[in-house]
Amino acid sequence: MRLAVFASGRGSNMLAIANAIEEGRLPGVSIDLVVCDKPSAPVLKKAQELKLNTFVFEAKKFRKKSDYESEILKQLEQSRIQMVVLAGFMRIIGPTLLKVWEGRMINLHPSLLPEFPGKDGIGDAFRAGVRETGVTVHFVDAGVDTGPIIAQESLMIDPAETLDSLEEKIHLLEHF
Ligand code: GAR
Repeated sequence: MRLAVFASGRGSNMLAIANAIEEGRLPGVSIDLVVCDKPSAPVLKKAQELKLNTFVFEAKKFRKKSDYESEILKQLEQSRIQMVVLAGFMRIIGPTLLKVWEGRMINLHPSLLPEFPGKDGIGDAFRAGVRETGVTVHFVDAGVDTGPIIAQESLMIDPAETLDSLEEKIHLLEHF
């Protein structure tokens, strides 16, 4: 299956997928495009090292969301992508992409959805003082971190936990 990974930041989840492919844990899967909205994002360096195809754009250079999403659509088609994984892509997917990709686009989120959606799922759970949090994989719909849940993994928050230690544990769980 030909995957596109959308990312805005570090790209540790993109790398985890690439490693899983390399180690034969995802037979038949390949990353055929990395889409990134931040030209300085570390994910791009990782993609370059792995010799992956990238499409980089800056939203502010387009008049509206549907314009850059139309460009992404073209890129997905050109690369014959079959499934899209949002791995830390910090933009809400609009109707232009959704009408073509809904049902074939999944998102990774660092909380037990529907708890703590949004940009800082780890920090929000930590500050709320909950005893348990985790990670969720779900299909993307028009909402922010909503959409049918595919899988969840949880972990207990230790009384001595710091935000840093929780972030580390969540990322390990995501990469697993
Ligand atoms: C990950 O923790 C991912 O779950 C989160 O962004 C991080 C990206 O890290 N996604 C969201 O918060 C989506 N709402 P990465 O760039 O190292 O993969």
